[in-house]
Amino acid sequence: MFTPRRTTVSKFLIEQLKNSPDGQALAALLIDVTAAIKAISAVATKGALEGNVGSLTTTNVQGEVQKPLDVLTHEIMLHHNEWSGLIAGMASEELEQPYDIPAEYQRGRYLLMFDPLDGSSNIDFNVAVGTIFSVLDHGKDSVPAEADYLQPGRRQVAAGYAIYGPATVMVLTVGQGAHGFTLDREIGNFILTHPNLRVPEETDQFAINASNERFWEPPMQRYVEECKAGKSGPRERDFNMRWIASMVADVHRILIRGGVFSYPRDEKNKNGRLRLMYEANPMALLIEQAGGAASTGRGRLLDEQPQALHQRVPVVLGSKSEVERIEQYHREFDAGTDKPFVSPLFNERSLFRKEARA
Ligand code: AHG
Ligand code: MN
Ligand code: MN
Repeated sequence: MFTPRRTTVSKFLIEQLKNSPDGQALAALLIDVTAAIKAISAVATKGALEGNVGSLTTTNVQGEVQKPLDVLTHEIMLHHNEWSGLIAGMASEELEQPYDIPAEYQRGRYLLMFDPLDGSSNIDFNVAVGTIFSVLDHGKDSVPAEADYLQPGRRQVAAGYAIYGPATVMVLTVGQGAHGFTLDREIGNFILTHPNLRVPEETDQFAINASNERFWEPPMQRYVEECKAGKSGPRERDFNMRWIASMVADVHRILIRGGVFSYPRDEKNKNGRLRLMYEANPMALLIEQAGGAASTGRGRLLDEQPQALHQRVPVVLGSKSEVERIEQYHREFDAGTDKPFVSPLFNERSLFRKEARA
């Protein structure tokens, strides 16, 4: 329904940032990011018409086979943002080293990091994918070294994601709540449709790739086993499970419906699967801004000190009480007090137990 008083993302950002030092530059930067997202939305939703399905023969820095859209969306993000004079440098999931702003453009003080296409394994069969981004303050316009990017997530000055589903929706924060905007394709504007998102407190949903269950640590096994036990188990109520394999879609559902999302560490992925700087940190900031919690299982995610641009991290995020419960299970396990959870699988026979206590 069209009303002349709709709030566009530009108006929203300019107003939210009007009293912050350098706020208008940050607003302008984020408006450029939304322009890139609109371009990505246009190509992503054309699917096979534009040849955007199938795989390439190239791999990215993580050794993952790239899709045509991984590469195209990465280039869209770079080229929509390099010219503005607002950015000191960029880092992308698809690029091993940080991207230096070309000499013909001016630099600014911000660092922009992104996963240009999240959930790309879903592209071929038309399931929702997205873009995730994070903005840090470099504080000066000199060429940043890789170390300048390695700031803990609590120092993000802005973060957000877009989800390309039946509608394209962008959720962002500049540290004053998490707000959702829906793309009006006819007009070409993002319109504020979900102001002040709040993660619902009560939840009966969990999201995890259960095929990894045998590789998880005991605290995660315990949590999921208790959820699955439903009414007849210690939780005394039934839970439902969802796993889309696009973090953007799983996190978006949690912001709207509540629940907990986890990609924990396991025996195969010792640091989890998700990337700290451009997947976990921006989502953690959004979830905290919406009243939820985000953890590694053993501490606040936003306090994690990054050691490398592409490092992975275990992720547990969503409704606060569930995240706290999972942290408690980790504490009890590490302290050896996780009785009455005494299944032999989770104690003497566990590889993790020895490791965690060592
Ligand atoms: P990407 O497409 O950027 O590599 O990210 C995919 C991520 C994330 O979106 C999702 O939650 C997870 O990988 C899915 O992993 P599994 O395939 O192990 O389920
Ligand atoms: Mn991703
Ligand atoms: Mn990706």
